[in-house]
Amino acid sequence: MSKIAVIGTGYVGLTTGACFAHMGHEVVCADIDEAKVASLQRGEVPILEPGLDDLVRQGVEGDRLRFVLGGAAAAADCEFAYLCVPTPQGEDGSADLSYLEAAAREIGPVLPSEAVVVNKSTVPVGSTKVVERAMGRHDVKVVSNPEFLREGSAVHDFLNPDRVVIGTDDRATAVKVSGLFLGLNAPLIVTDPASAETIKYAANSFLATKLSFINAMAAVCEAVGADIDDVVLGMGSDPRIGPQFLRPGPGWGGSCFPKDTRALVHIAEDAGYDFAMLKAVIEANTEQFELTADRVERHLGRSVEGVKVGVWGLTFKANTDDLRESPALEVAGRLQQRGAVLSCYDPAVKRSVNGLELVDSALEAATGAECVILLTEWDEFRWLDFDRVAEVMAAPNIIDTRNILDANDLRRRGFAIRGLGKP
Ligand code: UDX
Repeated sequence: MSKIAVIGTGYVGLTTGACFAHMGHEVVCADIDEAKVASLQRGEVPILEPGLDDLVRQGVEGDRLRFVLGGAAAAADCEFAYLCVPTPQGEDGSADLSYLEAAAREIGPVLPSEAVVVNKSTVPVGSTKVVERAMGRHDVKVVSNPEFLREGSAVHDFLNPDRVVIGTDDRATAVKVSGLFLGLNAPLIVTDPASAETIKYAANSFLATKLSFINAMAAVCEAVGADIDDVVLGMGSDPRIGPQFLRPGPGWGGSCFPKDTRALVHIAEDAGYDFAMLKAVIEANTEQFELTADRVERHLGRSVEGVKVGVWGLTFKANTDDLRESPALEVAGRLQQRGAVLSCYDPAVKRSVNGLELVDSALEAATGAECVILLTEWDEFRWLDFDRVAEVMAAPNIIDTRNILDANDLRRRGFAIRGLGKP
């Protein structure tokens, strides 16, 4: 078993640290946020991520997982240092590497020789070099090991990876890093650093492309009287296409896709290639927010100005409390701009965001509304007492942007319901 330092305790860092500890490694996680470190030391996990709090508690109780303030305190005695700091979008769309460089500068002087530094943060091609330079160490290897974790199932994804990608030009280092994943049943892909870094951007951008495509197809289906769910079933049965990641929605968002697609456009541009296709994918997504707001007005047959609209769901997808670049917020914002009076409910959001009125239940959000728009696919919206919902609404209109409600059943109960990509 190895000694691993994890620098940064966000979604990626905390999941990485807790899962490595679960696999038997000795893990020290560091963060620069004193309050966060203190609460993690008490076993309190600041994010909603299924299974993560259990792993953190077990790790702390079993003495395999510790939390310290500052990267240097964690890295002084490690064999591997995982860099899991944010790489937010800079002003020009490129990734901002200042956190990464600061972390590398901090651990550089204290790392034992022969230690391996692993880049887990999503970073532009060439960033292993940036880390090497910032550390100023020639005896320490830097490799890329991109994460492919989905929020809401990050622990599961870490422990059951589709693949483990290790980017390094040094075979011996690749073997060392692969040893950390012993016991996980996953194909290992060893490649050079630039390819490893590119894989992450390519994967996320391709997934975003699939989503923009299917959202566009949903619009086509509505126009020609076809049913997107059946179309997806039909096209997804072709193994070359596959059924996954073809659910239409109000647009895609979250902490990765918007940032990574824009970064790839930028990376390509810097390298002299105009990635027009990816630009169109991003543009189509922004348009999708607008089209989703339009759907409410089309359904009601008039402008939403002064109309009370209930909003179900604000997070960027279900089973997370993450609101970063949430399509639901984009659509709600557009409805508000058009003068709608919104009443919002999300099971994971307890504090008001963007000045939106937040209420305590789906029923309360629907009360007095002329229309409800379902924006996040939380399971609890499926199992509401819809007869009661109909009673409290001013008019029984529902826009289901995730196609999760049983439209036939709701019609029988007197609702006028519109899904996405439905005839
Ligand atoms: C994503 C990638 O899946 C993961 O591999 C990567 O490492 C980080 O980015 P995440 O951002 O957690 O993970 O969310 P994901 O489940 O991929 O969903 C992204 C967006 O696409 C969400 O807004 C979601 O609602 C939307 N989506 C996803 C759809 O609209 N339809 C789908 O069929 C799937």
